[in-house]
Amino acid sequence: MEQKNDNEYLVLKDLTKIFSDGRGNEVTAVDNISLTIKKGDFVTLLGPSGCGKTTTLRMVAGFELQTYGDITLDNKLINNVAPFDRNMPMVFQSYALFPHLTIFENIAYGLKIRKLSKEVIKNDVAMVSQMVNLVGLENRYPGELSGGQQQRVALARALVLKPEIILFDEPLSNLDAKLRIQTRTEIKRVQQMMGITALYVTHDQSEALSMSDQIVIMNRGEIAQVGSPEEIYNNPNSSFVADFIGNANFIDAKVSEIGSKSITVTVQGNSFEVKKTDEEFSEGEEVALAIKPEAVDISLEPTGFTGKLDVSSFLGSITEYKIEFENSFIIAIHSNTAGQTVKHFKMGEEVYVDFKKEFFRIYKK
Ligand SMILES: Nc1ncnc2c1ncn2[C@@H]1O[C@H](COP(=O)(O)OP(=O)(O)O)[C@@H](O)[C@H]1O
Ligand SMILES: [Mg+2]
Repeated sequence: MEQKNDNEYLVLKDLTKIFSDGRGNEVTAVDNISLTIKKGDFVTLLGPSGCGKTTTLRMVAGFELQTYGDITLDNKLINNVAPFDRNMPMVFQSYALFPHLTIFENIAYGLKIRKLSKEVIKNDVAMVSQMVNLVGLENRYPGELSGGQQQRVALARALVLKPEIILFDEPLSNLDAKLRIQTRTEIKRVQQMMGITALYVTHDQSEALSMSDQIVIMNRGEIAQVGSPEEIYNNPNSSFVADFIGNANFIDAKVSEIGSKSITVTVQGNSFEVKKTDEEFSEGEEVALAIKPEAVDISLEPTGFTGKLDVSSFLGSITEYKIEFENSFIIAIHSNTAGQTVKHFKMGEEVYVDFKKEFFRIYKK
């Protein structure tokens, strides 16, 4: 008998996709990735353009056949199941609505193909239209809706199939900033309300951080790290992840001493300790010291480190400072508190830089 396990609901094992162009050139788009997704979770594949996110999603949907590896759903191998029978609708960046069909007909399309009765179709379409706030727009055509509304139709069209899993490929990328935030809240609300498992692709870190239960960071076809948004943000396991998700500053440092629990590094003649990780370092090694912009403080009071202010940018809720430091630049971000004046520094002014040292991490160069 099949053993069901909600913690191992959708499982990708050693999944690989090699594209070849017929002229002997091969591209390994997805390189031996393994991933276990829990039922009901919102899981995001996050990474730079070209890292293999869409290809992974298309293999899960069945649009693309894997070169190696297995995909199992509820402990059932689905490698050779046709896309239609997987019942994992995909929501695309381009909406992909039928322009000559009304909103009602667009949403009803998949149900018609499944040959459901008119009565059932009417009820189900009405239910999802309500859920994603499309009531009153059913008789319009896609061209008569805004981008945000069109994306809600695409979402309704997926939801109406009562899928176990919905796949999203950068669904918000065509929307303006404000609508993007509204629509991501909407998607998350519906996903949670219906207990649907979501596999979501984006290159936008704030989207991934705000929506996901688990984030899968991808780099060059491989998985770089998997974890909750907080785990990934607070404990990036590589300089790639630290840079990609936290916009970390990297400072040149040198290892001066290796202790049993910590490593001492030196910057500008100042020594301090950082926590030891799995990576091995040796004394005298040049390393990249990473620190997030929000853990950098600047002031005119002496603190031990000196830098030169390059540019300060007031951005409303935060102010961003670019500081020349150790022949390079670092960014400091300060939150602005309502009613309090923002610190102003002059361009080119000597400033003192302080770090919340407990947030330092070192990486290999
Ligand atoms: N049909 C294809 N034929 C050849 N190469 C492809 C094809 N689809 C994607 N690729 C290549 O595979 C890599 C990963 O692409 P993709 O999965 O679209 O990345 P992402 O969605 O993360 O931007 C890229 O180098 C891309 O050029
Ligand atoms: Mg893509």
